Amino acid sequence: MSDQVAGPHPKTRPSKIETQAVHAGRRIDPSTGAVTPPIHVSSTFERGSDGEYPRGFSYAREGNPTRQSLEECLAALEGGKEALAFSSGLAVATALLQGLEPGDHIIAPEDVYYGLRQVIGVVFAKWPLETSYVDMTDLAAVRAALRPATRLVLIETPSNPLMKITDLAAVARIAREVNAISVCDGTFTTPVLQRPLDLGVDMVWHSVTKYIGGHSDMVGGALITRYDNYLFERARKSLLFGGAAPSAFDCWLALRGASTLPWRMRAHSGNALAVAEFLQRHPAVEQVHYPGLPEHSGHAIAKQQMTGWGGMLSFQVRGGREAAMAVAARVRLFTRATSLGGPHSLIEHRASIEGRDTKTPQNLLRASIGLENSDDLIADLEQAL
Ligand SMILES: Cc1ncc(COP(=O)(O)O)c(C=O)c1O
Repeated sequence: MSDQVAGPHPKTRPSKIETQAVHAGRRIDPSTGAVTPPIHVSSTFERGSDGEYPRGFSYAREGNPTRQSLEECLAALEGGKEALAFSSGLAVATALLQGLEPGDHIIAPEDVYYGLRQVIGVVFAKWPLETSYVDMTDLAAVRAALRPATRLVLIETPSNPLMKITDLAAVARIAREVNAISVCDGTFTTPVLQRPLDLGVDMVWHSVTKYIGGHSDMVGGALITRYDNYLFERARKSLLFGGAAPSAFDCWLALRGASTLPWRMRAHSGNALAVAEFLQRHPAVEQVHYPGLPEHSGHAIAKQQMTGWGGMLSFQVRGGREAAMAVAARVRLFTRATSLGGPHSLIEHRASIEGRDTKTPQNLLRASIGLENSDDLIADLEQAL
């Protein structure tokens, strides 16, 4: 590709996240001059007469230009060495665990995202893996859970749905004591609000379905690493040969979403803080879980490692499960639906979706605060409460 069409020159490579979000991984299309990148739907690519692949692509399960753009963009946003894009967030988790040997030990948060608990407990039941679920806000408990066979320390902060805050730098240091690899789920925060790799965490994974895609119209995942390591390499093999490849269209949607990510995250955060403050004052609300509230138990650590509080919050309604269900039933502007990170505000009774062995309080509602006006969101919650 000539300099004329190669996009930002390396000397002027942008360092600010808003600029990276628009430019990283993108180039002006050399054949047409299109500013918005095309979607490369081809499943196969031409070989040269020497049998080589001079343009770097051979078959779409292994990669295509749209997926490569997304991977370059996400690696730049996280400050990582390399990214891999997957067909879903949980496909990333599956590929990571496939890199472990039978008998290897994992440390995971006691309130780990329930989907990941299913992957560990159901999909990998026959592997088998040893797993310790610990309260990661308690660093002594994390250290006490270490074993010689510990290979992976999974972190979620803020956690889902209780919004507990884990000290990323401290847990990454503890993992290194036994040469375990630390991996943080960055879905709730995105690199706009928190950059775990800068704090010493080894890898970050995302449900791209959420804020990065940003419009509730695609499903995808990504794994980003700070340096070459065997679990990243094994996840790459799992992606290329196991086939959890994202579609070109989903990669394109994610890339489009990434362009506006920094500005959307600020709007989500501003709206969520306003809603959290309203809920905290409301007599029908027992407790609000939002790291932006000074009363939140993890507020001080969140302040050190986050640059904004995010769009996710949960709250417990006085009167137990029935009262919480009744509030969810009365909302008009919020939509009762799972997932998060899109423009529409969503509300969900988490315990009932997580099933019988849930640890989530029965009176808890989780909300993904969208991009509507916060006055309208507050008015809706007011009438529902
Ligand atoms: C925090 C978090 N991580 C991971 C996932 C899994 O991602 P996906 O649904 O894209 O497989 C989800 C999905 O809800 C999530 O909320």
